[in-house]
Amino acid sequence: MKISFAAPDLPSTGVVVVGILADRELSPSARTLDAELKGALVRAMEASRFSGKKDQTLSILAPVGSGFERILLVGCGKAEELDAPRLQGIGGSIAAALSGTSHSTAFVAIDGLERAPLSASEMAAEVALGLRLRSYRFDKYFTRQKEEEKPALSAIVLGCADADRAARLFQPKEHVADGVALTRDLVSEPANVVHPQSFAETARKLDALGLEVDVLGEKEMKRLGMNALLAVGQGSEKESQLVVLQWWGLGKPAETRSQEKEEQTAADDESLRPLAVVGKGVTFDTGGISIKPAANMEEMKWDMAGAGAVLGLMRALALRKAKVNVVGVAGLVENMPSGRAQRPGDVVTTMSGQTVEVINTDAEGRLVLSDALHYTIDRFQPRLIVDMATLTGAIIIALGHEQAGLFANDDELAARLTKAGAAVGEPLWRMPLGDEYDKQIKSDIADMKNVGNRGAGSITAAQFLQRFVGKTPWAHLDIAGVAWAKKDLAVVPKGASAFGVRLLDRFIADSYEVD
Ligand code: BES
Ligand code: MN
Ligand code: ZN
Repeated sequence: MKISFAAPDLPSTGVVVVGILADRELSPSARTLDAELKGALVRAMEASRFSGKKDQTLSILAPVGSGFERILLVGCGKAEELDAPRLQGIGGSIAAALSGTSHSTAFVAIDGLERAPLSASEMAAEVALGLRLRSYRFDKYFTRQKEEEKPALSAIVLGCADADRAARLFQPKEHVADGVALTRDLVSEPANVVHPQSFAETARKLDALGLEVDVLGEKEMKRLGMNALLAVGQGSEKESQLVVLQWWGLGKPAETRSQEKEEQTAADDESLRPLAVVGKGVTFDTGGISIKPAANMEEMKWDMAGAGAVLGLMRALALRKAKVNVVGVAGLVENMPSGRAQRPGDVVTTMSGQTVEVINTDAEGRLVLSDALHYTIDRFQPRLIVDMATLTGAIIIALGHEQAGLFANDDELAARLTKAGAAVGEPLWRMPLGDEYDKQIKSDIADMKNVGNRGAGSITAAQFLQRFVGKTPWAHLDIAGVAWAKKDLAVVPKGASAFGVRLLDRFIADSYEVD
């Protein structure tokens, strides 16, 4: 769908979308249109339950002879509350309301409002982002879609004052939406299509954007001692992979250029040290020998959503040429039961040298991340590290599908992430860490075991990860409950959400980018 910006003059034909504020207060464009149509808008509102609340829409077939085809009223709520997430939600409501119609184009009137916190051009850019995010579709496997089932809408024009500025503001947002679409594509694909090697192939193609892409196979990971990650993948026919993406928007620090740690100079500018993002990429999680029940097991194709978000984020950063250094790492394995699979009770030595007794082969994400986190810190000495993982069912018990769990060893990092999440509508709830929880993963025969007792399952999983990050400021986002939407949400059509992409893009833009 093509999105463009134009002068605010209302057209005299076609589909026109106008805003209605709380309590049926007409926006300036709605007022003009209502007068032109002899009160048809107000009459239509009065005959319905539409009152201008947020998320409401009222679709009116235009009166014969008016020249218009359809008028869509979109509820905006209170003008003072028209912040970015609300405006994106309005864009989402417009996309949803028009998707069921046969129109191919529409004009959306964005009025400047005195009581609103944003200018007309800023509002237009946010509405456009919402339109873009909500109109995502994953329909490549429908081979018999009838013409009337396909989306008809192909172009939207947003009319507002200072349209050029709106277009400029929209550009980086559209790049982020592009990253979101990549993540959604990867997460939506079934596990016979997206497996560790095909995921790595997709990552390799990102080098066209100026990202450095390395892919480590099993041989290299074996040499590095990444035995925990490899143990998870050893039951699968698919070769495990580690994808390393580097974005040097500020140029490289000397130590990475020379690859020789010994030569690193203290003079290296702190700001050149990269931020690091690590994702769990279990392309399918059967549970392994500790096999999962059959019911809903198909959902475990999403178990690579953390790794998918890493790719989407890196794509977004590269597209918008972010002035920041970031490395993204994805640990990719398929967790299968077979004659070669790891067994409950096996002991593995991780790359960090710490040993793990594998009590339950279904607690595999933490094994993958333990080596991916250690590798990333060892190779890049990042300023901070954030991991994203569909790690535990227990986080869904705690927080449902509304918020992701946030664990951190650094209060400032946790606060910045929470703020970014609230700003983009991807909320995080901070969970505790502590020695008493850590005791739960003591093992009788190794440095630790990979599961705790019955209680606090998400926290003991995070305690496990914490043992592999040393003193590096670290945060872990358990996205098991939010990676997939079971119903349409404001800017997420039912399906893969790409949770984390917009959040980390904002976190990086707000706190680490230089302009
Ligand atoms: N990938 C799952 C977690 C998960 C469950 C994500 C449901 C999304 C929806 C993870 O690998 C897992 O199996 N975790 C176990 C851990 C347990 C064996 C300690 C769990 O949560 O049940
Ligand atoms: Mn599992
Ligand atoms: Zn898993």
